[in-house]
Amino acid sequence: MKKLLIATGGGDCPGLNAVIRGIAKAARSEGVWDAWGTMEAFNGVFSDPPELVRLTPKRIAGIHVKGGTIIKTTNLNDPRAYPVQQADGSWKTVDRTGELVERIKSLGFEALVNIGGDGSQRISQALIEKGMNVVGVPKTIDNDLLGTDLTFGFSTAVQIASESLDKLVTTAESHHRVMLMEVMGRDAGWIALHTAIAGGAEICLIPEIPFQIDKVLHTINKRYHKGKGFANIVIAEGAKPAGGAVVGKKALEVGDQHIKLGGVANYLQMLLEEKGCPAQIRTTVLGHIQRGGIPIAFDRILASAMGVKAYELVRDGVFGTMVSYQGDQLSQVPISEAVKGNKILTPDHYLLRVARSLGISFGD
Ligand code: F6P
Repeated sequence: MKKLLIATGGGDCPGLNAVIRGIAKAARSEGVWDAWGTMEAFNGVFSDPPELVRLTPKRIAGIHVKGGTIIKTTNLNDPRAYPVQQADGSWKTVDRTGELVERIKSLGFEALVNIGGDGSQRISQALIEKGMNVVGVPKTIDNDLLGTDLTFGFSTAVQIASESLDKLVTTAESHHRVMLMEVMGRDAGWIALHTAIAGGAEICLIPEIPFQIDKVLHTINKRYHKGKGFANIVIAEGAKPAGGAVVGKKALEVGDQHIKLGGVANYLQMLLEEKGCPAQIRTTVLGHIQRGGIPIAFDRILASAMGVKAYELVRDGVFGTMVSYQGDQLSQVPISEAVKGNKILTPDHYLLRVARSLGISFGD
């Protein structure tokens, strides 16, 4: 039997297990490829002895309904810039992609299915350039990967965020308050925009449209009369005021190159209070709740289908490609195209027009 290796990298995401199951089941049904997983992305390959699991029918049974990933994940230790501690205690990064490809091949694997977001697909591209047969599967709750209309996990995150907003609206109405809800969305406002429309927010602040605090306050003021009224604001973690910067801090963990975003909603609350906002303001930061728990049915289906498609691409030798959902069909795009940037909301996107027609302000 030929062996294929599956890796899940970056943040966890509802639907990862359904992809793993889809690949393993499709492979088993044809009996030519044997699916394995590497634990915690490529840490499993670098470990001595390697930490790999064979994805037997027993191991994958019923996992499509479970959140997280049975083969674990990490956003540390990017093989392109792998942290290595020096004798003096300091850290430097080295490129271990060539070594990684050698290790994967020497373990008998002829193909790699890398399930991950933009960072993981950039790693895929580096491994392709070192001679690995790679198929990518697009994962991120942020939905900001180029080359696909949708990523699995996004719809579950929107569902969780919308249900959370429904609960906050209750308090806003009852207390005449301004309720602020911060959602994920590092570079793109997809979750925030979908949630604002689904939940009926009055204001939606996203990375693509820097907000002006006076405009935000103006929209709030219009909703109050003699101290009575309410307003709900959805703000993406990557939103920023016009001329300002994102709110976050440098990651503390060795090997994590990201800025940890978070806190922009609290910052906005402070700005509004300083400007004399007429109402009490309360802030909720949803954080990782959006990534946790079971995937909704749509994501289980999309993720299962993407898993089966990824297997078919391996079987047919269509390497260097990422599974892509476009126009209600599954196809594939070159990974080199998918990593050219992020898929952000463009000013002409129909949902921005819809939101504005529904009276949602973007603070611009
Ligand atoms: O990329 C998905 C994402 O959920 C971002 O929206 C967020 O900034 C990041 O992951 C948080 O990752 P971590 O798990 O490292 O806190």
